[in-house]
Amino acid sequence: KGLFTYDPGFMSTASCDSQITFIDGDKGILLHRGYPIEQLAEKSDYLEVCYLLMYGELPSAEEKEHFVRTVKKHTMVHEQLSFFYRGFRRDAHPMAIMCGVVGALSAFYHDSLDINDSQHREIAAFRLISKMPTLAAMCYKYSTGQPFMFPRNDLTYAENFLHMMFGTPCEEYKPNPILANAMDRIFLLHADHEQNASTSTVRLAGSSGANPFACVASGIAALWGPAHGGANEAVLSMLEQIGDEERIPEFIERAKDKDDPFRLMGFGHRVYKNFDPRAKVMKQTCDEVLGELGLDNDPLLRIAKRLEQIALEDPYFVERKLYPNVDFYSGIILKAIGIPTNMFTVIFALSRTIGWIAHWHEHHSSPIARIGRPRQLYLGEKKRDYPER
Ligand code: CMC
Repeated sequence: KGLFTYDPGFMSTASCDSQITFIDGDKGILLHRGYPIEQLAEKSDYLEVCYLLMYGELPSAEEKEHFVRTVKKHTMVHEQLSFFYRGFRRDAHPMAIMCGVVGALSAFYHDSLDINDSQHREIAAFRLISKMPTLAAMCYKYSTGQPFMFPRNDLTYAENFLHMMFGTPCEEYKPNPILANAMDRIFLLHADHEQNASTSTVRLAGSSGANPFACVASGIAALWGPAHGGANEAVLSMLEQIGDEERIPEFIERAKDKDDPFRLMGFGHRVYKNFDPRAKVMKQTCDEVLGELGLDNDPLLRIAKRLEQIALEDPYFVERKLYPNVDFYSGIILKAIGIPTNMFTVIFALSRTIGWIAHWHEHHSSPIARIGRPRQLYLGEKKRDYPER
């Protein structure tokens, strides 16, 4: 009694049991509800994977049709919410805006706040999946000074997002199927990844009984850091900083130097000590997109490819099993599609919302759900008396 395990960074502590996602990091395996990620990426699409994560099984054709229709019913956001955007500086980081506006959804949708009511929980899930692309695109439009675009429910989920990002009231955005497909794949490959920092944050926030919008806002905040979802943005900043293929060895040496805080962004993973299976699919999509756009010779992308090649052969990275992760390639694809760098992590947040909500839901469905309350190892001062002064 009174003893507990000290495990900084939760290297070997399971915080919950779950039936959603399985990862074998040594073998490079990722399964959602038992289905390999490679098969889902090839045969399924993002909304179908959302259904799978939420309900545990793939939908029948009618179930999928009904699910997609329900998602489309909730794509608009309350008009008042657009005033919230107008309170931000135009140069605000979109993740800063997302932390605010997603949390603020709890002020608008009172029929989705009762966590003990399964219907409330379900409608909150739909609202979040449906509104995230709208809220994300509004961040971008706000930064450019262009008007917010209403969602178009005749388009697919990915096409609609690209329309809200790049369409204007003067000119309709005509989605390129290869780019829309790549966008959908980025959403799908980021949909869930078991107990990462942001998902654990959502579960912990949820364990106190906080409402789903507040919990997802906490996940967005945790995702923002460069060691987690901020890595895709950091990859592009790093490539720009390298600037020239000839300077790659200099940065490789810096990454190995323990006195230098610089790390190769987009390399390494806490769980995968083998190639990240998502990165394999993303690499293939990356080649398709660059080919379609004729960008094979883009200088930044050339630096990325050369960097990958050098790091994969360098003993430092080989010995530590530091492979390119999903964010290394997703950053490159997003740049090629024309998404500004500071929106990259927002897109990760949009994609991961279903994972957060599925875990939040699982927590509340568990008969042993209880508030998360980690202990600590106190190393501070012993009791002492306040000095007479
Ligand atoms: N560049 C250079 N060295 C590295 C890197 C890197 N990117 N990643 C790990 N190392 C070294 C690290 O210095 C340590 O070396 P040593 O054993 O000599 O002290 C060894 O590899 C093990 O690293 P660690 O820090 O103990 O590993 P971790 O599991 O705590 O960290 C990580 C995992 C992802 C935070 C880390 O690899 C990293 O910072 N990578 C760059 C950021 C990044 O790409 N993050 C996205 C992760 S994937 C998306 C997501 O899940 O959010």
